[in-house]
Amino acid sequence: MAELKATLSRLNLINLGIGAIIGAGIFVITGSTAAQYAGPGILLSFLIAGFACVLAGLCYAEFAAMIPVAGSAYTYSRATMGNLFAWIIGWDLILEYLFAAATVAVGWSGYLVSFLADLGIQVPAKLATSPFIFDHAGWHASGAWINLPAMAIIALASLLLVLGIRESARVNNVIVALKLGVILLFIALGASYINPQNWVPFIPPNTGEFGHFGWSGILRGAGIIFFAYIGFDAVSTAAQEAKDPQKDMPAGILGSLAVSTVLYLLVALVLTGMVHYTHLNVPDPIALAVNTAGPGLSWLRPFIKMGAIAGLSSVILVMLMGQSRIFYTMAKDGFLPQIFSRIHPRFQTPHIPTILTGLACAVIAGIFPIGILGELVSIGTLLAFLMVCLGVWILRRTKPDLHRPFRTPWVPLVPILGALAAFVQMLALPGDTWLRLIVWMALGLLIYVSYGRRFAKDPTLLPLEIE
Ligand code: ALA
Repeated sequence: MAELKATLSRLNLINLGIGAIIGAGIFVITGSTAAQYAGPGILLSFLIAGFACVLAGLCYAEFAAMIPVAGSAYTYSRATMGNLFAWIIGWDLILEYLFAAATVAVGWSGYLVSFLADLGIQVPAKLATSPFIFDHAGWHASGAWINLPAMAIIALASLLLVLGIRESARVNNVIVALKLGVILLFIALGASYINPQNWVPFIPPNTGEFGHFGWSGILRGAGIIFFAYIGFDAVSTAAQEAKDPQKDMPAGILGSLAVSTVLYLLVALVLTGMVHYTHLNVPDPIALAVNTAGPGLSWLRPFIKMGAIAGLSSVILVMLMGQSRIFYTMAKDGFLPQIFSRIHPRFQTPHIPTILTGLACAVIAGIFPIGILGELVSIGTLLAFLMVCLGVWILRRTKPDLHRPFRTPWVPLVPILGALAAFVQMLALPGDTWLRLIVWMALGLLIYVSYGRRFAKDPTLLPLEIE
């Protein structure tokens, strides 16, 4: 049977990581997090969340270099903990990749509508918003019909992914250059509009309620802003398509994480220096900062929006790529019908999982509001991080002699701290997000018992012995 083709260079992989990481987190969520929870101290929230991701990233790097198979955390769990845990993580990763693509597509739709409005083109809200609202009172109708732009960007990204991984990586490289350019322009030009008074007090005093400013606000901010870092692990789903995975996987994962972390810290500093945090509770905080700088920077405004639209597109692209690769690997292992593991003879891509992922994702993005999707993405991702960190530790004990082209430093300290950091962040998420995770997992277990278990191949046949 045809296999995935190894065509991605180290730069492609770093760009895939940056493509997946920098998106709605920095362009949308930063402002409301600073305004509601952390103030200028959001810089510390970014540092804390970034540190937790570096711990997980070091563990992903060991696995991705050692087992260069397209399944990422799903494959690593199968190698270390067997079929049941593998299925649990495979099922859980749908929350990360498929739901992240849908979440970001909803954000993309918002930015596109606002950009078109600036150009004088009005998109009717009925056709560009979720038909539902979910708030403290529960679910109710919004009056809209469907979010068509969100569905359209998913269809477009899926089409590109069917046509080829090299083509997709090329488009991603261009998008990444554009969004990095816009972010660097914002940092460089915005820096001269900083008013240091906006940083005083750097950590606004707690209001008396946990999580609202003070140190607890910084921690809650870290839990929310964690979303901005999601994506570096998506690099590992392209391991089978990398030319030299043993060297380039760690570079792709850790390199993209390092670049994004530095940019996030600088954006947080400039943003809260340009605008007092109390004004930042808007869906487009970076565009707002440029506006407040006055006529000197107003030319930058459309570029910021274009950078955001481009930036969110690449997140959608790479997340959909990750999801289809995970389904492909799960099918090869017998967990899903074999049709999922077919490679298109001409395009050499797993076209069937790509099309089905795109369809499911488009339906979700067309119907659901952004908030409910985003929290599920965070809890699903954190669970995968937890399992990967534990997996590194377990495999070091059960198979210490395996050839490890990249070794996570200070094992077991780094994996334990990484797993703890993920668990603490999971605990910080609301109770109903946990409930949804539990329902989702229960559904997954039901499918495993009634289908997956019977067809799954023996996990001892893993491509692990690559000494
Ligand atoms: N990290 C990605 C984003 O911020 C998911 O859009």
